[in-house]
Amino acid sequence: MLKPSFEPGVPMADGGIPLCIPEIRGKEWEYVKQCLDTNFVSSVGPFVDRFERELATYTGAKFGVATSTGTAALHIALLVTGIQPDDEVLVSTLTFIAPVNAIRYVGAWPVFIDAEPDYWQMDPQKVVDFLEKECSWKDNELRNKLTGRRIKAIMPVHLLGHPVDMDPILDAAHKFNLIVIEDATESLGAKYKDRMVGHLGDIACFSFNGNKIITTGGGGMIVTDNEVWARKAKYLTTQAKDDSIEFIHGTIGYNYRLTNIQAAMGCAQLEVLNEYIEAKRRIAKNYSKVFQEIPGLASMREAPWANSIYWMYTLLVDEKTYGMDSRALMRRLGACKIQTRPLWQPAHRSPAHAGCQSFNCDTAERLNRVALSLPCSVGLTSSQFEMVVDAISRQ
Ligand SMILES: Cc1ncc(COP(=O)(O)O)c(C=O)c1O
Repeated sequence: MLKPSFEPGVPMADGGIPLCIPEIRGKEWEYVKQCLDTNFVSSVGPFVDRFERELATYTGAKFGVATSTGTAALHIALLVTGIQPDDEVLVSTLTFIAPVNAIRYVGAWPVFIDAEPDYWQMDPQKVVDFLEKECSWKDNELRNKLTGRRIKAIMPVHLLGHPVDMDPILDAAHKFNLIVIEDATESLGAKYKDRMVGHLGDIACFSFNGNKIITTGGGGMIVTDNEVWARKAKYLTTQAKDDSIEFIHGTIGYNYRLTNIQAAMGCAQLEVLNEYIEAKRRIAKNYSKVFQEIPGLASMREAPWANSIYWMYTLLVDEKTYGMDSRALMRRLGACKIQTRPLWQPAHRSPAHAGCQSFNCDTAERLNRVALSLPCSVGLTSSQFEMVVDAISRQ
């Protein structure tokens, strides 16, 4: 038998303190029961329509298209915006791997952009520098001077619940005629200068997997104001059926649908999202109050222009001052049955994407060495909080 391994978003079998698990406290049972009672359990149904409508409205977008996962949403967003094989897409190197994989699914190439040191998001200055210094116009198209390929889009990833500093990126996109696809999977409900994350670029994607702020078990959503893209996204995610009686398919489609049962959960979770955001912000504030007193620990910060949802509370550990590095702290907490995890290997270091271009990614490498994410489920109890804090404060 396979050994069960630690999976974020899944409760721990041994009753320890999990990193980040779902919180089911709303009308999930009631809405799922409605699906079972009416036999609407599969890939169409009133909850799918409602979840699409309500999530789009929440972000301020005109259209929502539900998908089976956030990764599927990213794949389809790249297709509907017309990213072609051999195009290049600027993407954050410090990210979970899904957006980078999605770029490769469509045959395009990522160009990895570093994180900035303050809030750990895609560095807008490096985006601008790359576009201005490393690219040039040829036949009305922006081309990477090194590879000769066309630059087509920017994909900022709003990491850990905090927005990317978008205005300089949007200005650059406008200047260089690039599409902006937000990977907003980790940051539903966050705001950038009072504008909702997911309604800042041309199209955006969310995830509802088990560790996200709201969950459908697994699921995703594309939101956009562009009706043509939204219609195409629905078409592609539902097998590209031109005639559902005669089974005529005009192009290659995908079965990327969210089921009505999952959407029912999503509707219930969306009703309590703002409460969950408050809980996440409270947990972050309480952690930061403690950690700012401990030499060698630097807490997660919120930019003056941001409203973070603090989806995944993360610390930076300075080995010299704190007395151990982030991985030793992870092991120590693990021995106390407290789940933590480092940030992702920066994508430019990923063997899966060896050979792709990166642009000065030192900050992401440093963050990967020193960062550690701590238990921060919406339902984290005060005794669990005290146990985590005690274990970290004990030197
Ligand atoms: C930044 C980022 N992008 C994309 C995804 C993919 O979402 P999903 O797991 O729903 O496919 C995730 C999380 O899982 C993520 O953290």
